[in-house]
Amino acid sequence: MQIRRAGFCRRSGRLSTALLIGTLTLTSVQVCAQAILEGERFHPAVARQGMVATSHTLATTVALEVLKNGGNAVDAAVTAGFALAVTQPRSGNIGGGGFMLIAPGDGSDPEAIDYRETAPAAATEAMFQDQEGNVVKDRSRFTHLAAGVPGTVAGLALALERHGTISLEQALIPAIRLAQDGFIVPQRFTDGLEQARERLTRWPATLETFYKKDGSAWKPGERFRQPELAETLRRIVDDGVKGFYEGKTAELIADEMERHGGLITLDDLKNYTPQVRKPVHGNYRGYDIYSMSPPSSGGTHIVQILNILEGYPIGESGHNSAKTIHLMAEAMKLAYADRSEYLGDTDYVDVPLKGLTSKVYADKLRSRINPDKATPASKIKPGQPAPYESNETTHFSVVDQWGNAVSNTYTINFSYGSGITVKGAGFLLNNEMDDFSAKPGVPNTYGLIGGAANKVEPGKRMLSSMSPTIVRKDGKNVLVTGSPGGSRIITTTLQVIMNVIDHGMNIQTSVSSPRIHHQWLPDEIRIEQGISPDTIQLLESRGHKVVTNSAMGAIQSIMVGEDGTLYGGADPRRSTSSAMGF
Ligand code: GLY
Repeated sequence: MQIRRAGFCRRSGRLSTALLIGTLTLTSVQVCAQAILEGERFHPAVARQGMVATSHTLATTVALEVLKNGGNAVDAAVTAGFALAVTQPRSGNIGGGGFMLIAPGDGSDPEAIDYRETAPAAATEAMFQDQEGNVVKDRSRFTHLAAGVPGTVAGLALALERHGTISLEQALIPAIRLAQDGFIVPQRFTDGLEQARERLTRWPATLETFYKKDGSAWKPGERFRQPELAETLRRIVDDGVKGFYEGKTAELIADEMERHGGLITLDDLKNYTPQVRKPVHGNYRGYDIYSMSPPSSGGTHIVQILNILEGYPIGESGHNSAKTIHLMAEAMKLAYADRSEYLGDTDYVDVPLKGLTSKVYADKLRSRINPDKATPASKIKPGQPAPYESNETTHFSVVDQWGNAVSNTYTINFSYGSGITVKGAGFLLNNEMDDFSAKPGVPNTYGLIGGAANKVEPGKRMLSSMSPTIVRKDGKNVLVTGSPGGSRIITTTLQVIMNVIDHGMNIQTSVSSPRIHHQWLPDEIRIEQGISPDTIQLLESRGHKVVTNSAMGAIQSIMVGEDGTLYGGADPRRSTSSAMGF
């Protein structure tokens, strides 16, 4: 029986000398992408014409319907984006923002739509500090000051305008139906609302919108309706983006802010503009990596870490072996140290992108890695790249029958964002302002240290880790991936790329396998369950502190085989995840 795999498997088990001594060349890794049939433990969804992977079955279903009706990947992605805003209020959103990466099937240049939230015009550098200059954590997390100006509606509309074939109305209809008629809630929906009860129910509009009249959470199997959200979405159908950024919805947001000392005004909303950006581009073992550019740090550091790791025979070292995890952790530390110093919104600060993503700089960083011993985080400082040239998020991936690919990550930051619902409008506001550096050197919720490059400034976009990523081989889209997970987004996405390219796994195995994470500070490797005690011991003997974490990320991915077959990998870490194709 022939065992065929959907990973980029090495053609033979033999590795070239170049690979073994760690001087990889393009030809030293021969890869293939084949169908999967037998002998695997995890099986992707398989289809020929279109594939959608999202974190909610209902969103996957409506987006797939768009593909079946002849829509393209952008049509389906925008439809999924609005549907998730209804079915997954903890992270799907119209009150937040995100990034969409679009890679045409004809091989032309990928493009990124940046619809990250912006700081309101009245925001100030020290707004999250008290009079003594101490950071007041809750202010940037659970108050009206925590909300950035939402970008999702403008961003999804722009994507559709530039690349779509259906109208905004067509993209919104399934979401409106789900909001108006309701949907049967899954266990995860109930659990989330119970877990966040304390911070959500302090806001009357949130209590009324997401809980029953008696204050209890909707139970699995019950139908949950959102009539106010349906009205908000209808106003977008009626007036386009103005139906959100001007008129009644904008007034409801501005009133909400005024009542509670928030900063977002009618002008902030009217002035919100999504941006078209050039994605970060790198190359890893002959694959082209396209990922999100600033104001996300994601693409920059994925490329930087891959550049460092390219100098090691990772496939030979083995998946999640102590040797591989050690090298990954050391490379991650160096990248996150640089993140703390250099990354910010390039509309406001210079970011040495070319330097950070160059192979020469990676060589320098690699030379600092001791292959046998962990370098303490305290000994790592941000490096010197070439000079400046002028936990709850959700990800979905789509590939259509023409090979067009969309990788979208959007967020309201925490699960349920700030917890604050806009009264009368039925949606939650983000708490993305916490992604700014409240004070240089003081960590945010994710323990991430930010520098002056990421200080609060009016109209500026806060630094993100979101990393929607598309990998190409010889101009063809072959992998579409991305994840939620705060600071762990970068390393989660990185590992799926490595699982496919270095370890020859099929996409479902790549997505499901246990992950690790290091972010420089705190100085510890976080691991998921499934890394063996011997491996942990070996890592500890190299000087690492190893901490077992709960599940990290929820990566919804699609792989395209050499013959065009589509493989969907939905992350089992979210019980509602689904990948479906036709
Ligand atoms: N709010 C998490 C991020 O954008 O990285």
